Amino acid sequence: MINMNISKIEPTEEKLLHFTKLPTHIAITMDGNGRWAENHQVTRMEGHQAGSKAFLKVIERMVQYKIKIISMFAFSTENWSRPEDEVNNLMQLSREFITDNLNLIHKYNIKVNHLGNLNKLPNDLQSKINESIEMTKNNTGTIINIAFDYGGKQDIVNAVKKIVAEGMPIENINEESISNKLATANMPDPDLIIRPGGELRISNFLIWQAAYAEYYFTSTLWPDFNAQEVDYALTEFSKRERRFGKTKD
Ligand code: FPP
Repeated sequence: MINMNISKIEPTEEKLLHFTKLPTHIAITMDGNGRWAENHQVTRMEGHQAGSKAFLKVIERMVQYKIKIISMFAFSTENWSRPEDEVNNLMQLSREFITDNLNLIHKYNIKVNHLGNLNKLPNDLQSKINESIEMTKNNTGTIINIAFDYGGKQDIVNAVKKIVAEGMPIENINEESISNKLATANMPDPDLIIRPGGELRISNFLIWQAAYAEYYFTSTLWPDFNAQEVDYALTEFSKRERRFGKTKD
């Protein structure tokens, strides 16, 4: 964990002033469930279950801070190569998560969105995800992008395919036209990417969109990531000076 000497910040409007700026879009790679399970001598499935509890707590904190967009990396295109049991368990956990929490998510005025391939998921999980999107489509609060069977390279390949299929004239192809064909079309790029679990890599998450994101890495394992860890990340973000390739003013 990055060692910062800050006191616990309560999510009140007044204390929000502790952050000089907040990100509009935060992306999180939820990593470390397996190692957490090992440390606690429980099954990997129990590690993922603990990870799904952290997922809810972190969302709640960010909703309190009125973060506009949160992108959560729940299952990558590469995760299909995990043992079949683990893949099935992750599908089951996702079903349970939606069943148990959809009403609460709706009550929080969250709008659910999906990034990635829906069609490779089990039919009933596809239906549950679609139900979440439909139920929350008119909500006006935080947008949560659930990246489930998502890969950044594949996102770019799909964008190129759409551009070619549309026959877009070559002179119209630019950064904006490509961005508009990605899974995150019409959304601002992430300002902050959080990666718990101690690994210092991006693992194919929103790779195009991450071009100018600020990165926050911590060795805290995802199931231990909580409201206070969100505060650490936001405090760190508010100290960063973003220049987007320009010189300092
Ligand atoms: C990476 O940890 C985590 C995953 C591949 C799954 C993430 C899923 C959740 C947190 C469950 C919540 C999601 C939903 C949609 C309910 P790892 O297994 O790679 O950990 P390790 O690197 O320590 O082995």
